[in-house]
Order: sequence, then C-alpha cells, then structure tokens
Amino acid sequence: MSNKKELLWASRFNEPFDRDALKFSSSVHVDGKLFREDIRGSIAHATMLGEEGIIGEEEARAICTGLKEIERELEEGSLVPHWEDEDIHTVIENRLKEKIGAVAGKLHSGRSRNDQVATDTRLYMRERIDELQVALNDLLETLVEKAETYKDSIIFGYTHLQRAQPISAGHYYLAYFNMFDRDTDRLLDLSMRVDVSPLGAAAFSGSTLPLNVERTAELLGFTEIFSNSIDAVSDRDILIEFISCCSIIMMHLSRFSEDIILWSSYEFGYLEISDAFSTGSSIMPQKKNADIAELIRGKTGRVYGDLMAMLTIMKGLPLSYNRDMQEDKPPLFDSAETAISCVTLFNRMLQHTRLKEERLGELTKKDLSLATEIAEYLVRKDVPFRDAHRITGKIVSWSIENRTPLPDIPLKRFREFSEVFDEGIFAALTPEASITSKKSHGSCSFESVERQIREARELLG
Ligand code: ARG
Repeated sequence: MSNKKELLWASRFNEPFDRDALKFSSSVHVDGKLFREDIRGSIAHATMLGEEGIIGEEEARAICTGLKEIERELEEGSLVPHWEDEDIHTVIENRLKEKIGAVAGKLHSGRSRNDQVATDTRLYMRERIDELQVALNDLLETLVEKAETYKDSIIFGYTHLQRAQPISAGHYYLAYFNMFDRDTDRLLDLSMRVDVSPLGAAAFSGSTLPLNVERTAELLGFTEIFSNSIDAVSDRDILIEFISCCSIIMMHLSRFSEDIILWSSYEFGYLEISDAFSTGSSIMPQKKNADIAELIRGKTGRVYGDLMAMLTIMKGLPLSYNRDMQEDKPPLFDSAETAISCVTLFNRMLQHTRLKEERLGELTKKDLSLATEIAEYLVRKDVPFRDAHRITGKIVSWSIENRTPLPDIPLKRFREFSEVFDEGIFAALTPEASITSKKSHGSCSFESVERQIREARELLG
C-alpha cells in the first residue's frame, strides 16, 4: 500500500516507504507541540531568504502569510496533524503547499530539518525557563513569608531523622529558600547557553546559499549564533542541562515533600495541610492524606528517568545528526511540564500549610535535644569540649534511666557530674536560650533569621 501523503525525501526511492515503518518513525504525536516554535523559526528563515534575495520578496511574503494562517488553523484545531506527515515540520510544509502552491517549496532553501528542530527546541526551552523562573519566584516569596510568620516559632531540627536541636522555624524555611534560589541561578546561567541560534547550520555542514544567520538569530531574539555547524545540529547537551536543572528542582521539591508528609502524620503532628490540598480514603473515613506532596515526590523519579534517558540516548552517537535524537522530545516535554506544574502546585500547597506551633513549643521544652546546651555551657566554664561531651552523655543517660527531663534535673545531681555546674544551667536549658545564644554566622538564632529574611527580601526586590 502506498503513502497517501508526500514525504519530503521520497523522490530517490522507487518503492514507497512501508506504512508500518512510517507510523513507527512518525513523531507528529509528540513534536506537534512545537508548532508555534516551528512556525516562528520558518517565518524568520523565510524573511531572511527574501531580504537576501535568495527567494523573491513577494514569495517570502506569501510564505509568511501562509504560515501565520497555518498557525491559526493549528491553534483552532481546524488543521489536525496526521501521523502520515511524519513530523510537525512536514505537516506545516505540506499544508503550506496546499495553500500557496509550489512556492511553498522555497521555504526550505538553505535549511534542513536538523537545524530547524534544533532551533524549535531552543525556542521551547527559552519559554519554559521563563515559566519555571516565574513559578520559582512565587515559591521563594512564599518561603520568605513562611519564615516571617514562623520566625519566633520553635521546631526541632533533625539529623539522621533524630531530633537534634531546637531551631527557629524561620531558619528551616530559609534553608529551602537558599536551595530554590540556587535553582533560579542555575536556570539563569543555562539561559545564556540556550540563547544561541543554530539556524543556518542546515543539515550539518552549512549551505552554499548566502544565508544571513545573524539576521535569523535577531528575528528569533537569540543573542548569539552558533560557530560550528556540526555542533549546532549534533549536540543535545543544552537540553540535557535543562533536564538536569529540572531534576535538581524536583529533588528539592521531593525532599521538602517528604518533610511535609512526615510532619503531617499523626506521629509527628507538627504540620497541618488544609483540606483543600488533602485527600481522603474511599474506605477509611478518618484518613487525611498528603497526596499532592506524594505525587510530587513520585514525579521526581520520572524526571530523573528523563535525564537518564537523554544521557543514554546521546552517549554512543557518531557525529553528526542521527535519528535517535528525535527521542529527545518526550523527555524534554515531560520534564519541563512536570517541573513547572510541580513547582506551581507545591507552592500553592505550602501556602495552605500551618505549623502546629502550640504542640511544637511544648515538645521542645523538655526534650533531650537540649543536651548540646549542657555541653556548650560546660565549655563556657572552661571545660574542654571532649570532656564536656562525655559528661553530658552521662547526664543524658541518667535522664533517660530516671525518666527526668534535662531541665528538671536538680542542681545537686548536675554537680555530681561536674563541680562547675551552678544555677546558670537552668537559664541555658530552654529552647529559647538555646536558639538565642547561637552566635556563629548563618546560625538558627532569631537574630540571624531576621537578617536572613532581610537579605532574602532584598534579593527578591
Ligand atoms: N523529527 C526529527 C527530529 O526531531 C527532525 C529531524 C529529522 N531529520 C532527519 N534527518 N531525518 O529529530
């Protein structure tokens, strides 16, 4: 059975392309998403061809008008891409031919689908980077607000998921502020490398036609142009870097989600997610689950998979273009869309969480997490830290055995462990004192948190 539609490359073949092979290799169902970028790139290319006299100005105008109409048709859904057209580039070119006739064939002068698709994906990434930056910025705003709201609230800080020391809750939120802030830096840095036009590299070796590559770059808003035509069409490192950025963002979201899931459990009971962002169970009526956080944690795995897929697709490819590279689009689209929707939803969910300060405040007062205060108290009394640590260890052990919280141990008993203890130990044995007395740079002290909030606000402008 022969193909119904004309393929862009079929003339040198005597037999028609097998329909199953065509269906297998068609990417319309995936790269159809790139129609806006593709049309934008084609309009820039046709404009330049007209300006340089490579095609007639009238012809360039007819091509551009036709392309704009096709964009509208695709937008409205009156033109539905079909797999028989092989890819979105073919869909558009075939439709252009239907609309304006043979002159449509001039659009592809000095161009290959190889530089065309490289251009499309860069335009796509540029847009998605902007969207991610907006979403991350909203999240950063929320984190500063949370830090402000809870700067005087005391929570446990953990290491090894064991209660470690009391900290200002503001300090906790600001830790994530720093992580997501670096994510925005990474995207900003990446955007410089995305901002390079590959258009004009043609298949891989350039063209004999006098293409004005600076002009097409300018029309597409790219600051730089490629310097090597093979590199321009053959590498996908920028795309891999984009998915890496998405993966790191997802890793941060996933860790934060894990805290939210744990903290909202009955056992922790530190945090309440509002009903609007919680789910129930179809069988257990009492259940209130943190499904949004769990889904974000789960989707992180998928985005890592996208990164692994791309690294693996590229690792053994001989230069220059290979059809394997068509497989870059599913991971690219998936990671971009997943990261954007996860940052957005996570931010909204976070806005709908409340720390249970009342419970946390009580819990931190009589907890073993004040032990470091005893050790540092001894250090202030000139006891070498290693001895202070050993003495405090013994006090902790006594406290557990005798079921007596550290602040309730009588002074007499403290003095049995070390002569240097006096009444002052009780003033040091409160979570407030623990936090307030932190003096070192970037610590969890209330003062440091205030300063961090000021700096974060300045950063956000
Ligand atoms: N659909 C192809 C891709 O995404 C476009 C480039 C096709 N080039 C080729 N030489 N077959 O990679």
